[in-house]
Amino acid sequence: MDLDANATTRPADEVIDAMMPWLRENFHNPSSSYRGGKIVRQAVDQARGQVAELLGVSAEEIVFTGSGTESVNTALNSWDRICGAGDFLTTRVEHSAVLRTGEAMNRTLSLCGVDASGALDWADYVDLLGRAAFVAVMAANNETGVLMDWRRAAVMAHEKGLPFFTDAIQAVGKMPVNLTDTACDALALSAHKFHGPKGVGALYLRRGTRFEPLLHGGGQESGRRSGTENVAGIVGMGVAAALARKRQADGSLAEIAAMRDDFESRVLAGAGGVTRNGDASSRLANTSHLSFDGCEAAGLLILLDEMGVACSAGSACMAGKQQPSHVQKAMGFSDERAKSSLRFSFSHRNTPDEARQAADCTIRAVGKLRSVQGGAIGPVVVYSP
Ligand SMILES: Cc1ncc(COP(=O)(O)O)c(C=O)c1O
Repeated sequence: MDLDANATTRPADEVIDAMMPWLRENFHNPSSSYRGGKIVRQAVDQARGQVAELLGVSAEEIVFTGSGTESVNTALNSWDRICGAGDFLTTRVEHSAVLRTGEAMNRTLSLCGVDASGALDWADYVDLLGRAAFVAVMAANNETGVLMDWRRAAVMAHEKGLPFFTDAIQAVGKMPVNLTDTACDALALSAHKFHGPKGVGALYLRRGTRFEPLLHGGGQESGRRSGTENVAGIVGMGVAAALARKRQADGSLAEIAAMRDDFESRVLAGAGGVTRNGDASSRLANTSHLSFDGCEAAGLLILLDEMGVACSAGSACMAGKQQPSHVQKAMGFSDERAKSSLRFSFSHRNTPDEARQAADCTIRAVGKLRSVQGGAIGPVVVYSP
């Protein structure tokens, strides 16, 4: 049972089928002027249209990249070079793609806090906006699934004349993300998070947004990202975007939420000493983040793996020392609680029966671990993307 859709998702069969011809017979370079090249160029442009439709934007505003991480780096490094004096303002709970990029800049990285439910601390945000040069607030947190009010954060940034970016890599495909009437200048998405292939991402760049490319070279992607395109990956991303749009319309998201809620209520009732983390009313429909009193997350992961359940812990191993997750620390969790938390993330490929079985396995694993561990929390040894 794969309950780790926030780490990655299985590419849809339609995606794989659509990609194959662009790896075999239609291998030409989309920049070539002869017929073969033109056919490939049309496929790339069709995919661009499909991604644009998912976001409600124009096709020219989409730049294909080699990953979500590259999209983040492209946008933020561009503004680092273009924007004048001031801090890079982001949040304490961002993915490492944003945090490490910010740390590598020659300007102050200013981190806005969150409250115990994972929501932005608005007083802190207003205060820090005063000395910011540009801003990034994620759309949905990869660990807890908590939704950030990035639209409000964007409006407030624009009121100060600041460019605004959102890392929507966990949100796109898991909920509607429509950019019509938002104050967002740039947004990152990644195909493998919504049943597309790995190693292909996209960056939305609002028309007229000031921008300098990260990769220089042959001038592909209208000069915004040089390098011969990963055509099969781009075609796959386009199909994945079209399928995600369809799922948003056909009620699949509600079905995923129902599975997640059933799993969660069974575990909460059956295991005892379980805390649900993050704002339950404002989170991704697929994500359940739970802390288990007296259980080491690493031990639970091993027991669950043996039972055939794949999920994640949010703690990273840094410099040989086991560290509780920065997201949970920002939410004010004790080290002990942070080290006893697991993330279960569903997709439409799961079934209600799997959700029930996974809950039973979790209850059994918690009971087993508590009986041998006696409530002592040791180090956590697992990293979750
Ligand atoms: C919120 C967030 N940002 C960025 C990334 C990086 O995306 P990619 O794996 O496509 O580089 C991830 C992936 O885990 C993520 O969850």
